[in-house]
Amino acid sequence: MKKLVIIGCGGIGTYHLNHFLKYTDIDLAGFCDLIPERAQEFVEKAGTGKAFTDWREMYDEIQPDMVFICIPPYAHGEIEFETIRRGIPMFVEKPVSLDLELARKIRDEVEKAGLITAVGFQCRYSNIVKDTQEFCKRHTINFVNCFRMGGIPGTPWWKVKSLSGGQIVEQTVHNFDMIRYIMGEPTQVYTMGTRGFVQGVEDYDTDDLTTTTIRFASGALGTVSTGCYATGGQCCDNTITFSAKDARLNHYIISKVDIYGEEPVVQDEGGSEVVKGDGKMSADGGQAITIRDNKQAGDLCDRTFVDAVLTGDGSKILSPYADAVKTLEFVLACNASMEADAPVRIENK
Ligand SMILES: NC(=O)c1ccc[n+]([C@@H]2O[C@H](COP(=O)([O-])OP(=O)(O)OC[C@H]3O[C@@H](n4cnc5c(N)ncnc54)[C@H](O)[C@@H]3O)[C@@H](O)[C@H]2O)c1
Repeated sequence: MKKLVIIGCGGIGTYHLNHFLKYTDIDLAGFCDLIPERAQEFVEKAGTGKAFTDWREMYDEIQPDMVFICIPPYAHGEIEFETIRRGIPMFVEKPVSLDLELARKIRDEVEKAGLITAVGFQCRYSNIVKDTQEFCKRHTINFVNCFRMGGIPGTPWWKVKSLSGGQIVEQTVHNFDMIRYIMGEPTQVYTMGTRGFVQGVEDYDTDDLTTTTIRFASGALGTVSTGCYATGGQCCDNTITFSAKDARLNHYIISKVDIYGEEPVVQDEGGSEVVKGDGKMSADGGQAITIRDNKQAGDLCDRTFVDAVLTGDGSKILSPYADAVKTLEFVLACNASMEADAPVRIENK
C-alpha cells in the first residue's frame, strides 16, 4: 500500500485526517508536528502510523509516497524543496507561501521534477462551481462583487500579519481563488485597508477590513470587501456575485448558488422601480433558481490528489501548485497595493 504522511497536525491537518480515516487503500504511515503531543494524537486517532517532530527523520524512516503539508503560511520553503528533491508528490495547504519569489522557485522545481502536486483550494471541487462556470459562459460578466465578513480564527499566528499574511492572503484567498478560477486572470488591483475597529485582541496587528478593486484581462471589473471584525453570526457573510446585463448569480462558497434573471420576473406594481424611463432599475431580482452544494468538496479534493498519486495521472487535480502561485500573486498584490496606497499590476509570470 502507498504510504501517506502529514506534516503539521493542527486544525487543517485534522480536517484532512478525518477524510483519510475512510480510506482503506492507503497506509497512514507518519505524522509530524513540532508539538509532539499533536503528532501523537494523530497516531491515536488513525490507530496506525508513527509520530515525529522532525519531518526529515520521518522522510528517512518512512520513505513516503505522498505528503500533506499543513503548516502555517510563514513556514514554507525548506520542506517543499526537500520534498521535491526526494520526488514525493505533495499536497500543500494554501496560501502556499508569503513570499512570491520563493513560491515561484518551488513551482519551477516542481515542473523540472514532473511532480504531482495539489493545493488546498477545496472550494473548486464543490458541485455548484460547474453551475457558476456555465452561467458565466451563457452571459458576459461585467462585474464581480465579493463580500466576506467573519471573525478572527483561534490560531495564534493568524493575528500577526507577518506570520499569516493577513486576512486577504490567509482566508479570503479562497474567494480570490474562486474569482480567478471563474473570471480568468486579473491584471490590476487597488486595495485599501483599515484598522482600529478590532480592540482588545492580544498581538493583533493586521487589517480589520479591506476593499479591493480588480481589473480583469477580460475588461470586467470586480470588488472584494473582507473583514475580520464580525463577532455575531448574523453579520457574517460569504457571497460572490457575478453580474451580467440580463442576469446575476450569487455564489455562496461550498453552500449554494442562486441564479436571478433566467426565469420570468413577476414585476411588482411599480413598488420596486426606482428609476423610470431609459434607466430601469429594479430592486427585486425576482425568483431565484437555487442549486445546493452536496458537501463533498473537501473529500473530493483530497481523494483527487490521492488517486492522482495512485494512478500517476494528475489531470483531474483542479488546483496544482503552479496555478496556486498565480492566486498567491493576486492576493500578495493586494497587500502590496495597501502598502503603496496605489494600484498594483499583476504580472502573471
Ligand atoms: N483549505 C482550507 O480551507 C484551510 C482551512 C484552515 C487552514 N488552512 C491553512 O492550513 C495551514 C495550517 O493552518 P492550521 O489552522 O492547521 O494551523 P495550526 O496552527 O492549527 O496547525 C499548524 C501546525 O503545523 C505545525 N508546524 C509548524 N511548522 C512545522 C514544521 N516545520 N514541522 C512540523 N510541524 C510544523 C504547528 O506546530 C501546528 O501544529 C495554514 O496555511 C492555513 O491557511 C486551510
